[in-house]
Amino acid sequence: MSKAATRYVCQSCGAVHSKWAGQCVDCQEWNTIQQEASATVTPFAAKQSLAAGGRVIELAKLDSDIELPKRLTTGIAELDRALGGGLVPASAVLIGGDPGIGKSTLLLQAAGRMANAGLGIAYITGEESADQVRLRAKRLGLDKSPVALASATSVRDILTTLAAGAPPALVVIDSIQTMHSDTLEGAPGTVSQVRASAQEIIRFAKTSGCAVIIVGHVTKDGQIAGPRVLEHMVDTVLYFEGERSHQYRILRAVKNRFGGTDEIGVFAMGQEGLEEVANPSSLFLTERDRPVSGSVVFPALEGTRPVMVEIQALVVRVTTGATPRRAVVGWDSGRLAMILAVLEARCGLSLSTAEVYLNVAGGLKVSDPAADLAVAAALVSALTEIPFPTDTVAMGEIALSGEVRAASHSGLRLKEAAKLGFREALVPASGNGVPKAMRSASFRSLGQLVDHLTGRA
Ligand SMILES: Nc1ncnc2c1ncn2[C@@H]1O[C@H](COP(=O)(O)OP(=O)(O)OP(=O)(O)O)[C@@H](O)[C@H]1O
Ligand SMILES: [Mg+2]
Repeated sequence: MSKAATRYVCQSCGAVHSKWAGQCVDCQEWNTIQQEASATVTPFAAKQSLAAGGRVIELAKLDSDIELPKRLTTGIAELDRALGGGLVPASAVLIGGDPGIGKSTLLLQAAGRMANAGLGIAYITGEESADQVRLRAKRLGLDKSPVALASATSVRDILTTLAAGAPPALVVIDSIQTMHSDTLEGAPGTVSQVRASAQEIIRFAKTSGCAVIIVGHVTKDGQIAGPRVLEHMVDTVLYFEGERSHQYRILRAVKNRFGGTDEIGVFAMGQEGLEEVANPSSLFLTERDRPVSGSVVFPALEGTRPVMVEIQALVVRVTTGATPRRAVVGWDSGRLAMILAVLEARCGLSLSTAEVYLNVAGGLKVSDPAADLAVAAALVSALTEIPFPTDTVAMGEIALSGEVRAASHSGLRLKEAAKLGFREALVPASGNGVPKAMRSASFRSLGQLVDHLTGRA
């Protein structure tokens, strides 16, 4: 007699519990535990040992001759770059991102361009009707491209259809949360359905040699929804991010079995879909023809790509004695508090009674510690109302002692700054790599930077 037990699975983290509870003890999410039928365990299967009765497999050496798989170009250079140089045949790529960020648009653009280049492309949508996709294709100018389109959600139907003809070069599945495998019970989107559907689709990719790109929904804190194992099952995980209110979108690899994860792709959402942005700094630098106080350009590093971002600070003196406000957009508020404390304690600047606002222009989120010096320069400039020169960049990490530490890859950052017309760099004393075309001023401590900016001896 087989015993069909039920189990309770958290739909957020995949943890299995023996009974239902309101909160998952593993991930602390509320109302995510659902009852699911577990695999049947027969008394016969439980008794069998795995160490006997199998087939002997051949164990091989590491150095046997293999050919590296030839990558396919998607026709979108920024997507190829995020993938580590193109799409690997027989690989599975998962792409996640906020609703409406442009996942379907990006994939339809890639599908259209690859189909135009003569590759077999299947685009399966479970979220939209075929007509909705056609409308989007028309808007993107891709309605004539020979993409094979279907609106379907049954994994069995999809794989039967794909296996019937010659395998396509790429299959796009939009999205895994709408797919349904009839080998299991449960509604689409549950952990077991997502896992089973993904497993079948990935197995098809590995056996047929076609690449698959799977769209995954994200939870409210930005993780790909469904089981975390989904990210382990695929070869590459990409996140498509950006502020909805801003034009730019960044495609970032967080895992790649066929390449590095330090490359990003930058796009701008326009009327004709996503446009590639070869020079991302143009998105984040505002037009400035005369110097203003409180605005400093920081040569940030996104992956291995230098991007110039403008840091803006505003300092307002309040006389009411109320607790002054500190507001930050695009940077860590804890880090701002730290820089303010160092400016106050080590450099003798009085900021504790002033309201401080800090903004990273263009909506980019900066987490690079080398931004410290640029933030400090912006704060000093805003406080003293001495404009910061428009042709100057600043970078370096600030320690609690007030010491200025070197930034990583400073040569790369400054080379890009020089290319974009910046002529001076404020850098840590220990740093190097200032290009010939640039002047530089170097600082051992934050106090020296304050002296330099305010002309204090
Ligand atoms: N007619 C239009 N003109 C300009 N931009 C449009 C138009 N229609 C849609 N967009 C842009 O495309 C975005 C939607 O893109 P898309 O459907 O690819 O997102 P998605 O990431 O697939 O979303 P979902 O998670 O809902 O599937 C919109 O947020 C909007 O910015
Ligand atoms: Mg979509």
